[in-house]
Amino acid sequence: MKSEPVDVLIVGAGAAGMMCAIEAGRRGRSVRVVDHARAPGEKIRISGGGRCNFTNLGTGPGNFLGENPRFATSALKRYTQHDFVKRVDRAGIAWHEKTLGQLFCDDSAKQIIRMLTDDMREAGARLSLGLSVDRIARAGDGFEAALSDGSVVRASSLVLATGGKSIPKMGATGWAYDAARSFGLRVTDTRPALVPLTFEAGLLERLKPLAGVAVDAVVKGGGASFEEAILFTHRGLSGPAILQISSYWREGEAITVAMAPGEDLYARLKAAKEENGKQMVHTALGHVVPRRLAESVCEREGVRGKLAEVGDKTLRRLEAAVNGWSVKPVGSEGYRTAEVTLGGVATDQLDQQTMAAKSVPGLYVIGEAVDVTGWLGGYNFQWAWSSGWAAGQSC
Ligand code: FDA
Repeated sequence: MKSEPVDVLIVGAGAAGMMCAIEAGRRGRSVRVVDHARAPGEKIRISGGGRCNFTNLGTGPGNFLGENPRFATSALKRYTQHDFVKRVDRAGIAWHEKTLGQLFCDDSAKQIIRMLTDDMREAGARLSLGLSVDRIARAGDGFEAALSDGSVVRASSLVLATGGKSIPKMGATGWAYDAARSFGLRVTDTRPALVPLTFEAGLLERLKPLAGVAVDAVVKGGGASFEEAILFTHRGLSGPAILQISSYWREGEAITVAMAPGEDLYARLKAAKEENGKQMVHTALGHVVPRRLAESVCEREGVRGKLAEVGDKTLRRLEAAVNGWSVKPVGSEGYRTAEVTLGGVATDQLDQQTMAAKSVPGLYVIGEAVDVTGWLGGYNFQWAWSSGWAAGQSC
């Protein structure tokens, strides 16, 4: 059996693994990156609708969840969103800010992958695709990994960079969690996050006509609040505000949705009634929220007829139904569509400056595999760049 020594073995050629490989290679370390996929950075490729929301200008520890969100501070400060933007600029990749500090490629996410693979090649890191790790163990001061092609790699440093469990169809696995556990590291409970929420059959039936309707909203739940669009789907609710709140929501809890935020709906309807009492209630409401939503709310509240025929109490009820809609999702669409995994290798097991395991010299965990989960909007990639960079200075 062939046995190859390297300084650093990185498992996972995603955003974090490639960044770590570049940095370690630039320090003169011999680096081997192993990934079971046929191409590196597949999640980068499909991210941001193919344009990769590669960072967020406002990135800070407040945009992350986990047992100890402050853990991310050090890496995020050592390698910032501005550092990554400079790298993107140097590579000549044009970008734009879409909204809320979210930066996207003008052209294609593939440019980010090309930049990373070019830099890896230049740094001398060797990338092996279509290979998985069959067995991994401590060997002397380092590690020994048996690969699926029958070869064995000996490494002084081992970096776990296989990400989370979201989108198993793309090859996502819980490998990093299992590997971390096998070295005695604690792993927190994991669950799908940044994921659409689902409703029970009865409610879905009533909301069926709304599938495809999008509206700007304020969504509250689990102690958090987000103002962005929501989208009614055939399964429940999606859209950025719902994906954001899904990271905070827990089974059995309700979320509250305001679908005309900032509007004094009661005053609007009352004024409409005084101006033209012959107007149908759903028509008046349809001037504030999408028409199909107005019709659905009126139907659910049993409000029919003209504005002149309804009293103030009814207008108040409509206001509450639109701006204080409390709804209990039954679940989420799960890892099948979740953008990220909440939870992972516990941060108290790792050094926050280097991502090194405190109890296992030479072992590192980076990216989504760590219990650091960002909001929607480029934060998760920034965590991958920052944590990969931090480990790359040390491994
Ligand atoms: P990542 O998942 O990128 O890489 C892990 C690598 O490990 C993969 O190449 C995989 O093949 C490999 N691997 C897994 N198991 C293995 C095993 N057992 N053996 C060998 N290799 C293995 N974030 C953001 O900031 N902006 C955005 O626009 C988006 N958009 C987006 C869209 C969609 C559809 C998804 C699913 C996710 C996003 N994200 C995002 C989240 C972002 O993609 C994610 O947080 C990062 O890719 C995490 O980077 P990692 O390198 O940690 O894992």
